[in-house]
Amino acid sequence: MRAFITGITGQDGAYLAQYLLSLNYEVHGLVRYTSQGLNTKKLATLVNLDEVTFHIGDITDSLRIQKLLNDIQPDEIYNLAALSHVHISFDNPKLALDTIALGTLNIVESARNLGLVNRTKIFQASTSELFGNSYDAAALDETSPMNPVSPYGTAKLYAYHLAKNYRQAYGFHISNGICFNHESPLRGETFVTRKITKAVAAIKKGQQDCLFLGNLEARRDWGHAKDFVRMMHKMLQQKQGDDYVIATGKSYSIREFAVKAFAVAGFDIIWQGDAEDEVGIDQSTGKILIKIDPSYKRPNELHALVGNPQKAIDQLGWNPHSITIDNLIREMVEYDLNLLT
Ligand code: NAP
Ligand code: GDD
Repeated sequence: MRAFITGITGQDGAYLAQYLLSLNYEVHGLVRYTSQGLNTKKLATLVNLDEVTFHIGDITDSLRIQKLLNDIQPDEIYNLAALSHVHISFDNPKLALDTIALGTLNIVESARNLGLVNRTKIFQASTSELFGNSYDAAALDETSPMNPVSPYGTAKLYAYHLAKNYRQAYGFHISNGICFNHESPLRGETFVTRKITKAVAAIKKGQQDCLFLGNLEARRDWGHAKDFVRMMHKMLQQKQGDDYVIATGKSYSIREFAVKAFAVAGFDIIWQGDAEDEVGIDQSTGKILIKIDPSYKRPNELHALVGNPQKAIDQLGWNPHSITIDNLIREMVEYDLNLLT
């Protein structure tokens, strides 16, 4: 089997490449040209780079994407490439649109033009950001209303519907994985979980004084990227394409995540003050370890996400609790501590 992964240099791309290689796939990846060489650092921590065939290109370049699909003739495409940072998408809405909406269009329309409909199955990386603030205490599933609250989420909504359109109009085997947040030691360093675990490690080693965060009350449903990429593959092994929520069904606040992460390194955080003056203090030393920086707050916040993964449990054999939040946090903090030794 031959797979083409866009976004192979990101968190999910690395875990997915590792998983597909373990299944003896021939793995091809799209990588962006940079003047500093290929950005394969994350991938290299999990796979032997010699086992992957790299193709320099950009998801926004329709000519290049069509040429690559024609050359590779993949059995499976995993479309993971995106400007994936929600906050950054507010200042870069066109980049979000280009990489996510037009990028997805380049994939599916190239596949259509090349007559790959019966040959190639496609996974589209959709997101819980599609739902926006639809959460009303009930967990979100495939039928919940979608009202995105960011340029990122809005572009992903286009891509989500486009994938459905190509399934319905042309018969493509194409699946949307409506993925809730998933993390790992390879998570980008500006996403809140990794930012926290890196800061915990640096504070523990005496290399940083304090961690600055934005909204502590936002809640997310966090799983492990390693589990999520298996579901991406599983979707493409079904008889037909479909849409699936992938989530753990449990949510925690940023505050709770931070307390758990500091605890792994032996810090007991207590809170003092209100609103932007609130601080997190190490109980044993009295040192302030967490402060609020309002610049990390978003123009529009998605307050709470929790998913209902029942369809994926029933149809894909998804185990939402294979890795607990505590084990995920421990793995991330220990990884970041090791990076500093
Ligand atoms: P990530 O670590 O930010 O990786 C994004 C990937 O997209 C990187 O390989 C990046 O390449 C690539 N990329 C960005 N712009 C590109 C362009 N113009 N042309 C080609 N490649 C480009 O994201 P992730 O966490 O692995 O997420 C993978 C996908 O799942 C994304 O589409 C994300 O939106 C979606 N998703 C993620 C989550 C989550 O919690 N992780 C949840 C729901 C959905 P560089 O390395 O060169 O920057
Ligand atoms: N990044 C960041 N940095 N977020 C912070 C901070 C901070 O200093 N302080 C508080 N937060 C809050 C954000 O306001 C948000 O409510 C929450 O932490 C999570 O932020 P991120 O880790 O940046 O992730 P996200 O939920 O916005 O987006 C991720 O998950 C989506 C799926 O729900 C990304 O991976 C998206 O690509 C993905 O689609």
